[in-house]
Amino acid sequence: MYVTQLTLHNFRNHPEVSLSPNKGMNVLLGKNAQGKTSILEAIYAAATTRSWRAGKDAELIAFGQDQARVHVEVTRETQNDVELELRLSATEKKTITVNTIRQTRVADLIGQVKVLLIEPEDGEIVRGEPSARRKFLNLEISQIQPIYCHLLSSYRKVLEQRNRILKDMQKGLSGGGVLDILNEQLVTYGSGLVHRRLQFVQRIDDLATEIHSGITDGSEKLEIRYVSSTVLEGADTVDEITLRLKARMAEVKADEIRRGVTLVGPQRDELTFHLNGLDARVYGSHGQQRTIALSLRLAEFAVMEESAMEPPIVLLDDVMTDLDEERRGHVLALTQGRCQTFITAPSDRAFSPEMLPGAKIYRLANGKVTEQ
Ligand SMILES: Nc1ncnc2c1ncn2[C@@H]1O[C@H](COP(=O)(O)OP(=O)(O)OP(=O)(O)O)[C@@H](O)[C@H]1O
Ligand SMILES: [Mg+2]
Repeated sequence: MYVTQLTLHNFRNHPEVSLSPNKGMNVLLGKNAQGKTSILEAIYAAATTRSWRAGKDAELIAFGQDQARVHVEVTRETQNDVELELRLSATEKKTITVNTIRQTRVADLIGQVKVLLIEPEDGEIVRGEPSARRKFLNLEISQIQPIYCHLLSSYRKVLEQRNRILKDMQKGLSGGGVLDILNEQLVTYGSGLVHRRLQFVQRIDDLATEIHSGITDGSEKLEIRYVSSTVLEGADTVDEITLRLKARMAEVKADEIRRGVTLVGPQRDELTFHLNGLDARVYGSHGQQRTIALSLRLAEFAVMEESAMEPPIVLLDDVMTDLDEERRGHVLALTQGRCQTFITAPSDRAFSPEMLPGAKIYRLANGKVTEQ
């Protein structure tokens, strides 16, 4: 799939931009703070409904404006072409349209256009807080299986309600009569989420281990594991996971009431990354953590391609300056000539001469984007 038309209106520092990208490589060149990452961010936000780096949607709206808009037209090989539009407002809820039809749920948009982002902060998936790894799982599985996104939003609603009841029970304000009903719902949605996460992690682990071994010339064996608040060994069906979650919930019930919070479920689970048997979060160097994240992203490319039967759109932020030649080579070998890429760099000196012919080059300066 590839973007054929991209329009930004009052998005970050871009008042008005309209691009007709190339099917292959698109290079965004410019000094610092000219708006290169913001262009990637616009594509990413249109495809997933939010930015990876903004805390709030309002940050995306150009200073002094009350609305921002991103419109993308995408050609897909295995489905009909699609147009997505994201409108952000300082005062109203954001709106999303797919082929001009307004969607009310994120799940109805996500996965229509698949994007893979590789960026300098990716190492945070390995070294950051568990929430960074859950965010990774939730977003990436949602892109591959939109049903996951439905399950997640249903799960979160029940979890919120359940936590409220537990808080009341903690204070002695409620006898917890509805807890059993909520438990049923929580386990139904929760086991669906956990089952999909386990399947995803298994596939990603196989692929990333092989990729990582290639990048490190066989010197590092990477293992990715799903770590759960419930013992899941041998539980590979939704029914089995349901039983395990229920059993664990019964075990921690008294503790939950005492603490006033749900202690079991996917909101407590996370991932571990081991290199040659050592926990890379604790013992890995910055560079090793970054390389794990890269292996993870490249594995994700393959999973996305498998599921969509065509490669995703790849957004490469600063990889020409952030990654060493060898790691850069792995990214480019996977993406060049195989999919549409958008790649940012300070200048064309970052590229070897054979890379640029055939690429579309955009220069960004003083709030303007010009095609070379
Ligand atoms: N809501 C906003 N309205 C206007 N300008 C903004 C807004 N948010 C951020 N900016 C500015 O937009 C500029 C471009 O940011 P961006 O991160 O896209 O630059 P960049 O070209 O990727 O830079 P770098 O090479 O340093 O990564 C920055 O100067 C930033 O301060
Ligand atoms: Mg940038």
